[in-house]
Amino acid sequence: MTNRKDMSNTGTGPQRAVAGVIYAVALVLVLLPVYEWVANAMPFYSDPYDLATGLFNLPGRVFVLVGFVLMFYQFVLGIRIPALERVFTRATNLRRHQTLGKIGFLLILLHGLFMLAYDRALAGRFLFDPYRVIGIVALVLLIIAVMAAWHYRALKLPRKVWKPVHMLAYVVFPLGFLHARTLGTELATSWVVNVLFSTLFVLYCVLVVYRIYIAVAGGAGRRAGQPR
Ligand code: HEM
Repeated sequence: MTNRKDMSNTGTGPQRAVAGVIYAVALVLVLLPVYEWVANAMPFYSDPYDLATGLFNLPGRVFVLVGFVLMFYQFVLGIRIPALERVFTRATNLRRHQTLGKIGFLLILLHGLFMLAYDRALAGRFLFDPYRVIGIVALVLLIIAVMAAWHYRALKLPRKVWKPVHMLAYVVFPLGFLHARTLGTELATSWVVNVLFSTLFVLYCVLVVYRIYIAVAGGAGRRAGQPR
């Protein structure tokens, strides 16, 4: 247990300034795709031509545009990044990981449900083309990953079980990205969203490599410290 205070509240001026910049960037990254979505949605809402699009497709899209960015934040907040821990304590990062993680999960879940409802309303049945199936598989894996961490006490899951199950989230993100690149309207029509999501995906890959590195280095360190 650390007594170190959160530098965003108590640190020096420069540390508070860095915290402020991080908050601002995090907010802008969430708002950018919403702005692009509004540009696409406005003409439709001002001249609606079919109820299903307005009720299911457009809301489902904006839910996931925000949910996907929040999901990216979960990797940043969950992995121990020294530069970030100089500004916010590990406890603060983990608290935000849990809160934003739940919000992101609910938005992505709503996206899946709204898109299923949209297909059902428009085509009269659920559609199972390969890229939709990738989305469905990603959603099922995400539900398992989130439930394992959210309800591990109720489910009586020991850490060595729920933690690896929670790592399924690492599979969900690239699946979600592939699915979005092939189906998403905002990804196809807005270069801003396209560049943003592609950049998040590249950063995700960097974080995965870093995560593997700290796992390997940590394992080697523990083995070296073991009595022979
Ligand atoms: C039941 C599961 C899912 C179904 C049926 C589904 C269906 C769809 C459909 C039909 C689209 C295209 C919407 C449009 O532009 O008209 C779409 C877009 C998208 N989906 Fe999914 N999806 C599911 C799960 C997921 C999951 C789990 C993720 C992320 C982890 C995800 C991320 C995205 C993203 C980012 C877009 C792009 C939105 C845009 O560009 O407007 N989806 N999905």
